[in-house]
Amino acid sequence: MITIKNVTKRFGGIIAVNDSSFKVEESSICSLIGPNGAGKSTLFNCISRVYPIDEGEIYLGDKRIDTMPAHKIATLGVGRSFQLTRVLDELSVTENLSLHTAAGFDFHLLRAGVTKSDKERAEQIMEFLNITHIRDLPMKELSYGQKKLLDLGSVLMSDPSVILLDEPAAGVNPRLLETILDRILVLKKQGKTILLVEHNMELVMGISDKVVVMAAGAVIASGPPKEVQNNKEVLEVYLTG
Ligand SMILES: Nc1ncnc2c1ncn2[C@@H]1O[C@H](COP(=O)(O)OP(=O)(O)O)[C@@H](O)[C@H]1O
Ligand SMILES: [Mg+2]
Repeated sequence: MITIKNVTKRFGGIIAVNDSSFKVEESSICSLIGPNGAGKSTLFNCISRVYPIDEGEIYLGDKRIDTMPAHKIATLGVGRSFQLTRVLDELSVTENLSLHTAAGFDFHLLRAGVTKSDKERAEQIMEFLNITHIRDLPMKELSYGQKKLLDLGSVLMSDPSVILLDEPAAGVNPRLLETILDRILVLKKQGKTILLVEHNMELVMGISDKVVVMAAGAVIASGPPKEVQNNKEVLEVYLTG
């Protein structure tokens, strides 16, 4: 379980996340939604410790993680997406995946050599995402949608028990969207705990156990999708925001 307790994050005068609290249950899908600028990505980055928080506490189970360095959080089994900022364009899909080890993205492995188990893991993930047919393509030749799949794949390389995904399906076509949502559901069935950040409320309603709505840095509603969907304040921020 992830516990976010009264977390505040400021950037200079901007309060990006304002005294926000919620929990993500074990082996569940929790979606963090809200209009652009709500603070979703900032909170996401606070959980994986890309940013230190100004106030509050974040726990993984009973371990406090906001005071730990980012690499330590990763070794506890927390994996996050990086929107393909960590790829090498000339290398193939298989090679790029293989460089995402439990220790993070390590391009030194290019010279040091990728281990057999990392290669095997990359193969498993390509099968899981149904992308073995593009295994030898250089990254630069991938379509936008294929890159989104790879983004998900690279998170899975370290076999995390907690998976944090920031807009994993943003801008993809309906067919691929279905594939991505389906794979996320399978990951939940495997026992993974999933926190999904999404701008589009409709997109996550069908797969989420819990929906947390943020607006202007604060959590304004949380609960089962149906409940949140009909919440007056939520409807208002979506109509006006
Ligand atoms: N690195 C940063 N430096 C300064 N301001 C930031 C930074 N990241 C985000 N912000 C600001 O924090 C607020 C929340 O942004 P963000 O978390 O990206 O929202 P969301 O992901 O919900 O669209 C916005 O006002 C944004 O401009
Ligand atoms: Mg964002």
